[in-house]
Amino acid sequence: MDLSCCKNSTVLYSMETIAVKPNLCEAPGERSVTTDEGGGNVFVLAHFSDPHLSSLKGVPFTALLNKRLLGYLSWYHRRRHVHCPHILDALLRDIGEVSPDHVAVTGDLTHLGLPDEFRQAARWLQQLGAPDRITVIPGNHDAYVPEPWEETFREWAAYLAGDEPAADGTYPMLRVRGPAALIGLSSARPSAPFLAVGSLGRGQLARFEKILEETGRRGLLRIVLLHHPPVPGSIARRKRLTDAGLLAEVLGRQGAEVILHGHAHLSMAHRLVAGTKNIPVFGVPSASHSPSNRQRAARYHLCRFERRGDGWVMLLTERVYSAADDRFVMARERELFLPVQRP
Ligand SMILES: [Fe+2]
Ligand SMILES: [Fe+2]
Repeated sequence: MDLSCCKNSTVLYSMETIAVKPNLCEAPGERSVTTDEGGGNVFVLAHFSDPHLSSLKGVPFTALLNKRLLGYLSWYHRRRHVHCPHILDALLRDIGEVSPDHVAVTGDLTHLGLPDEFRQAARWLQQLGAPDRITVIPGNHDAYVPEPWEETFREWAAYLAGDEPAADGTYPMLRVRGPAALIGLSSARPSAPFLAVGSLGRGQLARFEKILEETGRRGLLRIVLLHHPPVPGSIARRKRLTDAGLLAEVLGRQGAEVILHGHAHLSMAHRLVAGTKNIPVFGVPSASHSPSNRQRAARYHLCRFERRGDGWVMLLTERVYSAADDRFVMARERELFLPVQRP
């Protein structure tokens, strides 16, 4: 485990894999996730990430005279073959049929963060649904090199915005939906060639701590969304969250009920143990990846939270793309109890 980023931290935290129930149901195509239609005790969130949905066909060479040239070559030789538009069509159909209370998209909608890619992604998001039911946070590919907000993220502004007005690009963002507080962090920033690191920064972390404290006091189910995996050592050093130690210090003081992320393009399940807090962390693979690689095959999570005693029961259903059926089907379900993490 890489603890180099928290040498000065007094917070104790570690990585361990969550012990989960064995598959509760393997029957493909069955959906056991139900909402309680505004009752306040159940909240169903669909979480997907890294759709990398844009095409770079026709990109002028002059747009590639920086780190983007490497990214373009990666797209041309590999990524355009593994991130499939027809899988994203199936994703739209499946989420439409499941009709969760809310959808969270944890970044990397684009490849190189070009303005035209932002426009392509905006059109796709409109097909997915209305901005008040879809929360998007940025990934490192969306901030590949510095670009003006007006030419890029403004295209998604309604999907990025919190409930309260804030200056463009200010994070965290907070949306309260039923019993849930969706707290979106931004770890997206440009990095050097061959690096895909992210960071949050002290200003964002200070605001994050206040939001955790306030939403915890209100008894809300605090769901933290970020692009990079927050558990040190859970991803290669060149892709890591550089200030994961500082994030853990905040979480150790204030707690959160669950953390959801993307970036690794793999299914991940860990616990972030910070101080006295023990927080489940789940990552999803890319939502558009070809099933030619079983580990990386397109997948999304349906997270059903139900209030139970002094906490929440979380039923996490993994839905994976089946090429044979050209649709998403149930891969497995896991259930765990999320005790309220008090400050
Ligand atoms: Fe990605
Ligand atoms: Fe990423």
